Amino acid sequence: MKPVAILGLLLAICSAAGMAAADKAGEPPRRPDILLDDFERDSYAPWVAEGEAFGPGPASGTLPQQMEVTGYHGRRLVNSYYGGDGTVGTLTSPPFKIERRYLAFLIGGGGFPEETFMELVVDGKSVRRATGPNTRPGGSEELDWATWDVQEFEGRTAVLRIVDHRTGGWGHINVDYILQTDRDPLEQRKPLETTVQSRYLLLPVAGEGTPTHCRIMLGDRVLRYFDIPIAEEDSDVRFWAAIDLADYRGQTVLWEIRPRSARTLVEKRLRQSDTPVWPGNLYRETYRPQFHFSPRVGWTNDPNGLVYYEGEYHLFFQHNPFGIHWGNMTWGHAVSRDLVHWKELGDAILPDERGTIFSGSAVVDLYNSSGLGRPDQPPLCAFYTAAGGHSYNPCPFTQCMAYSLDHGRTWTKYTGNPVVDFIADENRDPKVFWHDKSQRWIMVLYVRRDAFSIFSSPDLKKWTLESEAQFPTAHECPELFPLPVEGEPGEVRWILWTASGNHLIGQFDGHRFTAESDVLQSEWGRNCYAGQTWNNAPGGRRVFIGWMNSDGSAYLGMPFNQQMTVPREFTLRRTPEGLRLFARPIEELESLRTKSVRFQGVSLGGDHSSQSWPVGDLLDILLTLQSGSAEAIVIDVKGVKLTWFPGRGELVCLDRRITNLPKDRPLDLRLLVDRTSLEVFAFDGRYVMSFCWPFGTKSGHVSITAQGGGAAVESLEIHQLRSIWEGVTCQGEQAKSGD
Ligand code: FRU
Repeated sequence: MKPVAILGLLLAICSAAGMAAADKAGEPPRRPDILLDDFERDSYAPWVAEGEAFGPGPASGTLPQQMEVTGYHGRRLVNSYYGGDGTVGTLTSPPFKIERRYLAFLIGGGGFPEETFMELVVDGKSVRRATGPNTRPGGSEELDWATWDVQEFEGRTAVLRIVDHRTGGWGHINVDYILQTDRDPLEQRKPLETTVQSRYLLLPVAGEGTPTHCRIMLGDRVLRYFDIPIAEEDSDVRFWAAIDLADYRGQTVLWEIRPRSARTLVEKRLRQSDTPVWPGNLYRETYRPQFHFSPRVGWTNDPNGLVYYEGEYHLFFQHNPFGIHWGNMTWGHAVSRDLVHWKELGDAILPDERGTIFSGSAVVDLYNSSGLGRPDQPPLCAFYTAAGGHSYNPCPFTQCMAYSLDHGRTWTKYTGNPVVDFIADENRDPKVFWHDKSQRWIMVLYVRRDAFSIFSSPDLKKWTLESEAQFPTAHECPELFPLPVEGEPGEVRWILWTASGNHLIGQFDGHRFTAESDVLQSEWGRNCYAGQTWNNAPGGRRVFIGWMNSDGSAYLGMPFNQQMTVPREFTLRRTPEGLRLFARPIEELESLRTKSVRFQGVSLGGDHSSQSWPVGDLLDILLTLQSGSAEAIVIDVKGVKLTWFPGRGELVCLDRRITNLPKDRPLDLRLLVDRTSLEVFAFDGRYVMSFCWPFGTKSGHVSITAQGGGAAVESLEIHQLRSIWEGVTCQGEQAKSGD
């Protein structure tokens, strides 16, 4: 855990200005603050510690077995929980001169004036004492401001003693950031007020760090709530979060901030602007995917609300607008006319009192069955899980609807929400679509492990439970869609799908799904999860996009985290094993090809015979290999190896393996290489492996090596791709930082 970053309240404001601040008329001018200590070092010296409780030096935050300590400044604090509550000790400051009206400090822990306290000692006498707030089980390890008026001692020499003599519950005391100040202590306790002058309130987001919990209030209404790791210094800024308060211009909003002591950091770092501030090098960063969607800033996970309407493919996505890790779930929004070039719009659906906005889907209500549009203006309706457990007012997860009458640019939450009330703890991720045969809307919902619930509705508002589909391994993000069997006119099957890509093939009659297959696998790599398909895609195409879920190590230093796969078109084909799903990169991607080279009949004559080709950073490679007598054939893509063992029928890439490949056929492969990913499509998309990998901008080589015998490259095409972000700029200010 990284420490909370609270900016020195007054130090920053007064001494940074380098002069005494003018006070209210008639009052003496305020002198700059004096920082007595912030404990940002590994030894207490020149303070003197006795006993065990304070440990060898200032603690780096929470100690083992301690509840999370928050509200301290910087990275370290005085924490007498060393060795638990049972240890005792004292910590005494060197003598110092009292030179300001107040002593202000952060304090937390035990609330026992005789046992856990900090005291001010003047001439050997204890003249002030303060404790933490806790005297019973429970409570909080948050440090908060305390202040002593020490005017009467100005000019005298004093000592601070921090005492932990208690061995029972809350037998510890935490202290940090001790200041001498002339500032009215009440100012630190007053809620922060902001008059909204511009469209956006801007706060800088750090890559790591303990979040500050913020609520922006108008009267007693919560307008926004979010957790944000605020960047203390400009050098820590990953991006600027932009809070759109256009509707509240001219009004004064109040902040509720936890820990309370982070108020000064918010106050210091808050800016207002009529445009967002984008990373200086947006879309051109080293680890920015160049033909995959990633959000401009912040974290993304699942794609949501995939729907095509009047020339636009909509891609909503799980978005954290306030950090590069998961949290504050909001529906981000991007649109595309070709599924290749994306334009990110502002966030579409924001958290409210029912919760943050988890995954779901969207439909075009063409005949206005919901009555939320007009016959000439059908609404787009989005279905999402209101994740009540993440609300400022925790409540159960429910399924809700929002609608848009302007092509998804603005959304209104349905007043009758939730449309499906709480059922069971896991219930989430509604996938809604129109079922032509039964002329009704269908919703598939994840309710508990190994089963999905199927609902129907005439109007998108009232939902009736139809059935439950058993699905071993089902977990999150259901999908249900029909696919024609290729080459067999009139034959259609339904695919019931779960987040991992595992799926069942069967029949769906509008009430019930009947499986005709075992659980089948669709993904053999490690980074494809929680995907879904577009509703209403033209030409009856079934196009899928997934989240390339990873540990984020491919996006070093980036203002965003995570990305989507390329869109893939699904088909269903009869194979010797039965009906199987095939996934191919959509053909529109071929429009990105620039330079291409083609080879045919390249022989890899014998053991360790190798061929190599120079390649750039963005690649679409098509390859057919004949195994010949080779035991293994290694394809090395800029350092990432794929090994085909033809005799074993195996393909291995990184730590993943496909087994039971056909042994009687040449291997055909399609490899898509972006700056942060590799997607492998084998046997025309029968097998897919998706990987995140930090290739970066470097060019390199693709080489093919035969091992244990000879082989042949029947054909090879290497296409260099162009970036989908060419010529894309974002309206708004550009920050100086960014690589
Ligand atoms: C899948 C998931 C969904 C949930 C969402 C929250 O990755 O856990 O089940 O709705 O992410 O972000």
